[in-house]
Amino acid sequence: MSNVKFMSGENIPLEMHKVRMVQRVHLLPVETRLESMKEAGFNTFLLKNRDIFLDMLSDSGVNAMSENQYAAMMQADDSYAGSETFYRLENSIRDVFGLKYFLPAHQGRACENILAQVFVTPGSVALMNYHFTTTKAHITRMGGSIEEIIGDEGLKITSSAPFKGDMDIDKLNEAIKRIGSGNISFVRIEAGTNLVGGQPVSMKNMREVSKICRASGIKLVYDASLLADNLYFIKTREAEYKNTDLKEIMREIASFFDVVYFSARKLGCARGGGIITSDDEMFFKMRELVPLFEGFLTYGGMSVREMEALSVGLQETADLDIISQTPIFVEAMCEELIKKGVPVVTPPGGLGCHVDAREFCSHIENSQYPSGALAAALYIASGIRAMERGTLSEQRNEDGSEPIASMELIRLALPKRVYTLSQVKYTADRIAWLHKNRELIGGLEFVEEPKVLRFFFGRLKPIGGWAEKLAEQFRKDFGESL
Ligand code: F0G
Repeated sequence: MSNVKFMSGENIPLEMHKVRMVQRVHLLPVETRLESMKEAGFNTFLLKNRDIFLDMLSDSGVNAMSENQYAAMMQADDSYAGSETFYRLENSIRDVFGLKYFLPAHQGRACENILAQVFVTPGSVALMNYHFTTTKAHITRMGGSIEEIIGDEGLKITSSAPFKGDMDIDKLNEAIKRIGSGNISFVRIEAGTNLVGGQPVSMKNMREVSKICRASGIKLVYDASLLADNLYFIKTREAEYKNTDLKEIMREIASFFDVVYFSARKLGCARGGGIITSDDEMFFKMRELVPLFEGFLTYGGMSVREMEALSVGLQETADLDIISQTPIFVEAMCEELIKKGVPVVTPPGGLGCHVDAREFCSHIENSQYPSGALAAALYIASGIRAMERGTLSEQRNEDGSEPIASMELIRLALPKRVYTLSQVKYTADRIAWLHKNRELIGGLEFVEEPKVLRFFFGRLKPIGGWAEKLAEQFRKDFGESL
């Protein structure tokens, strides 16, 4: 948000855009929502968009695009090889990151597949501030493992640490010594650390990690998918960068890393992804896999229209008014919830507001998926779709035991420039009602459990008849209201 003060002193997130195209959404009656949840196997991923009022599942591929992005899509140059569109995107990426080579891919996890295939060997370890689901799945698929070395503050639900995504430097040094640099496939830093609540990483921390990796000859990889939010926090929480141009910050970040990759479903508000590097050897190794898995080197599985939108979207990442919208709305939602006594991750991060389901549903066993249950209950109570980010999103251990997640959260993602303040207030209102009635929420158990990434399409059922009781209570309390 630009520097706008309200006379009342209230902290209101003010939009620096106007809406010129809208989509009708529907709020179904609670009884229908209950039926939809049953059909979806109590998994919010399996709900149909037509049954959802506010979709806060993710910001992936659903951010609002700017008029300039749409305009750019009209000049897309469709050609199997060598399209003008590709060179425009390559130029935009070079301009923003200051690195030499760009390999296009159809989305973020495709980049992770390529990185894992090239750099992960059986028995190797990838060190990272924190894992992301698809990152970990690709690394373990290649026989590697991951080790998380996030600072202790990162795993605390409430904290005042401004950069909870930072790596613990002592732990990093210790891990390198213990594992040996030859057995480390790479060190990975994830911007806006997704699974701990969209928490940022500081420039100071990235600089230190880079120094250590360079001195030990270990490759350093940056997952820039959530860079936009992280940039906002560097600019507003790291005093040294208060007056630095955002593009300069992006270039400095890129200079710390050997490889930068990103999901363009998030960064750049389009759909696609890419890998960037200035390292000749790494580039040539990774390049071989692009035509094999993605498509020819000048589109990599992306549509040229999306590539044009991405070229513009990346440039817009350097505009503080544009990138601040999500973090200031997340902060507004967190403040509303805190006022109503709901436990949320603090300080507010990017991406979305994260509710602490372990605390919210402290009466539900971890093995009965409190976050999954809360996400299902929230849909029944409001038509809002959130995402489970806890034990359900983990992969079962080889011996079949359940790895209890260090955090048990539900994420209310705020896609960029999509929802309004009244919709944020409605969300907080329904969550507060659920909090008051939290004893009505029960656990879940699997009916169908896929082995890999089970949270995407696994089906569950409630333990006991709690879902019906919740819907009945809603009707009692809200009368005719939707
Ligand atoms: N890295 C991070 C930090 C992500 O958040 C995601 C996706 C990916 C990689 C994979 O990118 O989806 O384009 O293949 N996150 C989405 C989310 C799915 O909802 O948070 P992708």
